[in-house]
Amino acid sequence: MSKPETIHWEGGADGSLFMIDQTLLPTEFIEREYSKGCVEKVWEAIHSLRVRGAPAIGIAAAYGVCIGLQPVLEEMDPAKFFAKFDEVVAYLASSRPTAVNLFWALDRMKEVAYQVKELMDCTQTFHPREVANRLLMEARAIHEEDRTICRAIGKYGAELLPDGAGVLTHCNAGGLATADYGTALATFFWATEHGKKLHIYADETRPLLQGARLTAWELMQHEIPVTLICDNMAAQVMREGKVQAVVVGADRITANGDTANKIGTYSVACLARVHNIPFYVAAPKSTFDLTLATGDQIPIEQRDPREVTHGFGRQTGPDGVDVYNPAFDVTPAKHIAGIITELGVISPVTEENIRKVLEN
Ligand code: MRU
Repeated sequence: MSKPETIHWEGGADGSLFMIDQTLLPTEFIEREYSKGCVEKVWEAIHSLRVRGAPAIGIAAAYGVCIGLQPVLEEMDPAKFFAKFDEVVAYLASSRPTAVNLFWALDRMKEVAYQVKELMDCTQTFHPREVANRLLMEARAIHEEDRTICRAIGKYGAELLPDGAGVLTHCNAGGLATADYGTALATFFWATEHGKKLHIYADETRPLLQGARLTAWELMQHEIPVTLICDNMAAQVMREGKVQAVVVGADRITANGDTANKIGTYSVACLARVHNIPFYVAAPKSTFDLTLATGDQIPIEQRDPREVTHGFGRQTGPDGVDVYNPAFDVTPAKHIAGIITELGVISPVTEENIRKVLEN
């Protein structure tokens, strides 16, 4: 199989977005095409986790803006063009609430659109295709930058992993969740590409099984030894001394270092603390939300109860049962030994250290 490309764009402003449909992995490898102004399909892809993982949904949303503008590429009234732009941005922002990368990427697109608008207002000119081209360039830049960022995260994180270590991860923070290479998984890729031996324990990650379906699959593609475990096996695996470090990704990190990530991450952090195992978070600068003081302020996505009651292609809970299905939880900063970013490792995790590393 050729190297999977999570997301790519073909053509100019009226081109197409291609994304692997991650809901079908690991049994089917299908790329879907998004084009002809169908921004609703991009929204649906983000909402239903066909594309998922914080950096990847930021990239998808940036390209989604380009798709959403395709119906107005010949619109010569700037007011109508920019009204459409605002509508598309607000619409894409409603696709998922927790990963801040989505809003960060849309903010970058807004900044570019309004810079170009200001320039065109000054010169009394308006070329819709020029604005669209500039926005496509920005989406491509967000995409490309992520590749570089992931490698830097991999390099910094790999230094923290002892040769021969067992490392546990939760959910999927790999190439599928980013432009490629990943955040948490980047540390495994970099370490093994540079001669270390690791054995990864992948939590299956109920209810949607990103660990089983995506992480185990990605690691096998990279020929990194991986053992798949059910989420409720992590404590026993740690007690047996099989794990020397935990590395996970993040969806939003607040000013004090509290970290939202896939539901179940907080339990893993507590288990790691009890077993004296360092618990690391790997995330780019774009995952930090310094406007929020603590994790209590992070909006937690609530998802369809059927993800819990109909999890394995069959009904697994009684009709009408009450279900609680938060998609993310928040790990308090005090449980995190270090946050691995493209700018270096933040440790100990304090607001002061976060600002020092990020604002450097
Ligand atoms: O619901 P998902 O699959 O989008 O959740 C993904 C995660 O929680 C990842 O760990 C996180 O986005 C980091 S991806 C580099």
